[in-house]
Amino acid sequence: MRLRAGGIYLGVIIPAFLFMGIYIVVTVSRGLYNNEITDAFTKANIISRVVSETMTENPDREEYHSIISSGLAGTGLRGILLDGSGKVLYDTNGSANAEGMIFTSSFLSEAFSGQQGEITKNAEGKKILSAAVPVEYGGEAIGVFYLTKELGSIQRLIFTLSWGIAAFFIAILMIIGILSVGMGYMVTSPLSEFVTTAREISKGNFDKRIAPQKNVEMNQLADAMNYMCAELEHLEAKRRKFVSDASHELKTPLATIKLICDSITSTEAPDMGMVKEFLSDLSEEVDRLTRIIEKLLLLSKLDSEERRISPELVDFGMMLQRIKNKLAPMAVNKNITVTLELQEDMPPVMMDYDRIWESVYNIVDNAIKYSKIGSVVKVSAAVDDTELIVSVYDSGKGIPDEYKERVFERFYRLDDSRARETGGTGLGLSIAREAVLLHNGQLYAEDNPDGGSCFVMKLPVGSEQIKK
Ligand SMILES: Nc1ncnc2c1ncn2[C@@H]1O[C@H](COP(=O)(O)OP(=O)(O)O)[C@@H](O)[C@H]1O
Ligand SMILES: [Mg+2]
Repeated sequence: MRLRAGGIYLGVIIPAFLFMGIYIVVTVSRGLYNNEITDAFTKANIISRVVSETMTENPDREEYHSIISSGLAGTGLRGILLDGSGKVLYDTNGSANAEGMIFTSSFLSEAFSGQQGEITKNAEGKKILSAAVPVEYGGEAIGVFYLTKELGSIQRLIFTLSWGIAAFFIAILMIIGILSVGMGYMVTSPLSEFVTTAREISKGNFDKRIAPQKNVEMNQLADAMNYMCAELEHLEAKRRKFVSDASHELKTPLATIKLICDSITSTEAPDMGMVKEFLSDLSEEVDRLTRIIEKLLLLSKLDSEERRISPELVDFGMMLQRIKNKLAPMAVNKNITVTLELQEDMPPVMMDYDRIWESVYNIVDNAIKYSKIGSVVKVSAAVDDTELIVSVYDSGKGIPDEYKERVFERFYRLDDSRARETGGTGLGLSIAREAVLLHNGQLYAEDNPDGGSCFVMKLPVGSEQIKK
C-alpha cells in the first residue's frame, strides 16, 4: 500500500510540477524577451524618424550623433546607423566602433522594407537582441537604424527564477512526501496488526483481540473483527463441548455393554435365565446407542449441507392426529390422556413435513415422558394471519426458569439420572429447535398455569416463512 502511494506520488505529482515549472519559466521569459523587443522597436522608430529629418534637412553629422546617443543613454542598447548601401554611418559603441564598415546580413537588408526583430545566441551562449527599422524619407528607405543588446541580465533573471521555482517545488514535494509517508504509515501500521490477528485466527487462536484504534473506520474494522473472533471462540467452545458430550454419551452404554459381557464370561456355569436377563439388558443398551447415533446423524444433517428444507402444504391437524396415534402405546402405559384442541377449519400450512413432524413428536413425547402417571397432556393448534401456534401442555414437574433455555442445548438433561432411566438422549429438543429455526420460527418453554410446563412452537405462514 505504501509502495502504491509512492507510485502515485511519483507518477502524478512530479510530472505535474515539472509541467507547471516549465510553463511558468517559458511564459515569463517569453514575456520578458517580447518586452525587450517591443521596447527596442519603440526607441528605434522614434530615433529613426528624428534622425531622418535631421539627416535630410540639416545634414550635420554631430547633430544626429547626439540625437542617437542621447536617445539611447542608459538603455544598454548599441545603436548603429547604416546608409542605403549598408555602410555604417554611426556606431554608439566606442570600444569596437564599426563606422565605415559595410554590413550585409539578410536581416539588415530585409529591414529596408520593414522593421525586423530577433533574439539569437552568440558563440558564448549569450542571448543577443537585434532590432532594425528603416530610416525613411519621402516614403523611401534611405538607411537602416539597427539596435542591439546583450540580454545577459534577463538570462540571469530567468536562471534565478528557474532555480527558485525548482527549489520551491522540491520543498513542496518533500513536504508532501513526508506527509504521505506519515499518513501511509498511519494507515498501514494498524493493518499489520489486523494481518497478524487474522493469521492467529487461522491457526485456531480465537482468543486474540485487536486493541481500540484511533481512526474511526479502523476502529469499526477492529470491532467487526473482534466480534468475529468472539463468535468463533463461542462456536469453537460449543463444538468442543459437543464432541466431549457426544463421546461421553457414547461411552456410557459401551461401558455397560462391556460390564454385561464381562459378567457373562466370568461366570463359570451361567444358567440360561441369567444369560437371558443379561442379554435383554445388552439389547437395551444397544438400542440406546442406536438412538443416540441416529439423533447425532440427524443433527449433523440439520447443521450441514442439508440446511435447506422442502416445504409443502400440510394438513397440520392430521399430522397431530398421527403423532398422537403413534405415541398412544406410551401414553396408555402411563395412563395419560392426550387431548387435541384444533382450530376449526384450520387451513393447510407450508412446512417441511418430516422436520416439523420430528419437532412436534419430540415435544409431545417429552410431555408424556415427563408427566405424572394418570395426568393429561393437551395439544392446541391455531393459525392466525401471520403464524401457526402450537402449544403442548403437560402436568409434570415443570422446568425452572433458569433451565428454560438450557434444555434446548445438546445433551442437556435437567435431571440426568431420571432422564437416562427414561431412555432420553438429551438431543430431542435441540433437534426440534433447529428444525423450527430453519422455518424462521420460534420454539420455547413456558410454565403451564395449571402446573407443569408448556412448550410453544410458532411458525410464520407468510412469505417470510421459509429460510431459503
Ligand atoms: N415437558 C417437559 N417437562 C419437564 N422437563 C422436560 C420436558 N421436556 C424436556 N424436559 C427436560 O429437558 C431435557 C432435554 O429434553 P430432550 O432434548 O428432549 O432430551 P431427552 O432425550 O432427555 O428427552 C430433558 O432431559 C428433560 O430434563
Ligand atoms: Mg426428548
